[in-house]
Amino acid sequence: MRILAIGDIVGKKAVRIISENLTLLKREYNIAFTVANGENADMVGIFPDQADTLFRAGIDVITLGNHTWGKRQIVPYIENEPTLLRPHNIPGDAPGSGVGIFDAQGKRILVMSLMGRCGMQFGADNPFFAADKILNQYAGKYDIALCDFHTEATSEKQAMGFYLDGRLSALWGTHTHVQTADEKVLPKGTGFICDIGMTGPENSVIGCAVEKSLATFLGKVPERFSEAEGDIMLNAAVFDISDDGKCKSVERINKILKG
Ligand SMILES: [Fe+2]
Repeated sequence: MRILAIGDIVGKKAVRIISENLTLLKREYNIAFTVANGENADMVGIFPDQADTLFRAGIDVITLGNHTWGKRQIVPYIENEPTLLRPHNIPGDAPGSGVGIFDAQGKRILVMSLMGRCGMQFGADNPFFAADKILNQYAGKYDIALCDFHTEATSEKQAMGFYLDGRLSALWGTHTHVQTADEKVLPKGTGFICDIGMTGPENSVIGCAVEKSLATFLGKVPERFSEAEGDIMLNAAVFDISDDGKCKSVERINKILKG
């Protein structure tokens, strides 16, 4: 089974372009199940109508991260939408869920959204122990387990990859918006990449307009970040999973989308 993981979709134009291209992409890569990180659909957060657009286009599960609550309108939506996952290890009694089991091609696919702690402001609970708890709680109830690990540090992502190696079919990082070139199958059969990158404006500073971002670094009065214009780049990875749940190969995708 081939699984497509799409890197953080950044901005309104990226939501539209990926939605328009998804059917063809899934055909091109022979995809059975698609997960996308959507926490930057409206730069900071995602609106319910944007989630609807992405689901209608063929994304099976949307994961979130530190900007989960960037748009308050998502709160009632996430309570009723099991295919929209916020990080499971948000402390306390947050709305929504961070884990779900979904069907594709007769397989039960567990998807978990976790957030890291290195260089992150959100004070998440320990993601390593959170993953243990999820896998124990759902033991025997899934065939394939996937994780979007949303965090800054490559070290934390690599550590998590090895910690869960052999227990997941695939784990990919999100959040930095810059794709890493370290895709591999770990020794015990988990497909891994530190960060799948961003699906958003190619000529940008992690999705934001260059001049607005530069102002901050040049000591000017900070401006509100806005979405950059221009071509939309797709950053993603395809994990090819065999019947025993082990990953056979990981293919990195980095290309400009038509639109
Ligand atoms: Fe993030």
